[in-house]
Amino acid sequence: MHAEKNIWYPFGQQKTSRDPIFITHGKGSKLYDADGKSYIDAISSWWTNIHGHAHPYIADAVNRQFHTLEHVIFSGFTHAPAEQLAEKLLEHLPTFSKVFFSDNGSTAVEVALKMALQFWKNSGKDKQGIIALDGAYHGDTFGSMSVSERDAFTAPFHALLFDSIYLPFPGSHPDAAIEQMRRACASGNIAAFIYEPLVQGAAGMQMYPPEILDQLIRIAKEHDVLCIADEVMTGFYRTGSLFASDQCKEKPDIICLSKGITGGSMPLSVTLCKQEIYDAFYSDEKGKAFWHGHSYTGHPLACAAALASLELLMLPSTQEAIQRIVKRHHAAEALLASSGKFENVRQCGTILAVDIPVKDPGYFSNIRDDIYYSALEKGVLLRPLGNAAYVLPPYCISDEELDVVYNTLFEL
Ligand SMILES: Cc1ncc(COP(=O)(O)O)c(C=O)c1O
Repeated sequence: MHAEKNIWYPFGQQKTSRDPIFITHGKGSKLYDADGKSYIDAISSWWTNIHGHAHPYIADAVNRQFHTLEHVIFSGFTHAPAEQLAEKLLEHLPTFSKVFFSDNGSTAVEVALKMALQFWKNSGKDKQGIIALDGAYHGDTFGSMSVSERDAFTAPFHALLFDSIYLPFPGSHPDAAIEQMRRACASGNIAAFIYEPLVQGAAGMQMYPPEILDQLIRIAKEHDVLCIADEVMTGFYRTGSLFASDQCKEKPDIICLSKGITGGSMPLSVTLCKQEIYDAFYSDEKGKAFWHGHSYTGHPLACAAALASLELLMLPSTQEAIQRIVKRHHAAEALLASSGKFENVRQCGTILAVDIPVKDPGYFSNIRDDIYYSALEKGVLLRPLGNAAYVLPPYCISDEELDVVYNTLFEL
């Protein structure tokens, strides 16, 4: 039971962090520890879980696939789960025509960036600039860190990251964002604009409206800048629509999906692109190919899980559950706002967030640990981002469980 002796855990100072909670099993929206205590997973285990833990339908699909084909090299070989998943995803995302597989959100972004940059090189225009948003978080690999906000997490590597151009956050400075977008695009050297549509997750569930994003994308398109929607967090109904980009009139050229794609059960990601992008790589010249791949690219078990998860997602009962959460969040938002205890109470689809007023609101603010541990004691897994507490639940969460989570927020 002393796993912590051997493991170096992510995202935490190992010296000062408390011992991790030993989870023995999960069921629905609950996790159970070795002492039998249960926790409502109000943050979907790093925003991945959408149908609940240990879902039998997904487990059966993975089990069946394991007995048929667990893995095969994805170069020179292919298999049914990947082919079927690509087809299904393209049905839901008809502006795209190719699906590139990788295995987590950061690599989906790496693929998108490399695709965009090489697209321009292959097209004879060596554009290299990338525009991102203040507060952006696109992952922890070097490329994805390079297009993310420079902060304490990336500080040891700043000298090695490539420069990106950051627009002011459009939710708080829409005019400045648009003005700076115009100026940056006018340079003629911008390859791509990358954004988390409607909600910046790691920045503290910061929200901005589709109309402003539409304007930014329009400017990008007028200047031949490829648009990359990082929907690693926002995909699969988090924002109320299947993809956040569905709420925008202007569509991206490339989209990155991960987290909820397998219902939170297995590591998988995809980067989808438009036909024109693929065409720039399609050539008799080997050097124009996209030389990128990972050992577990297109993993059959993960693809089987994703297919099962998509089926569950489209069931009328799941669609009703999503609408129920959206409605209940809306009612809770009004109550939280009128309580006067919180700032910036906000909701986008199944995401509800509040800021706790504190003197030092940064990510390392003590309030984060206070909230985290006091909620755990009450049997609720909330994992604030600095002073921003949020609810982003699996869609199977019951009304009673949601009430427990809302009450935990009220009592903060
Ligand atoms: C918008 C966004 N992009 C990329 C990532 C990175 O995903 P992963 O942790 O799977 O590498 C995250 C993770 O939180 C994310 O929220």
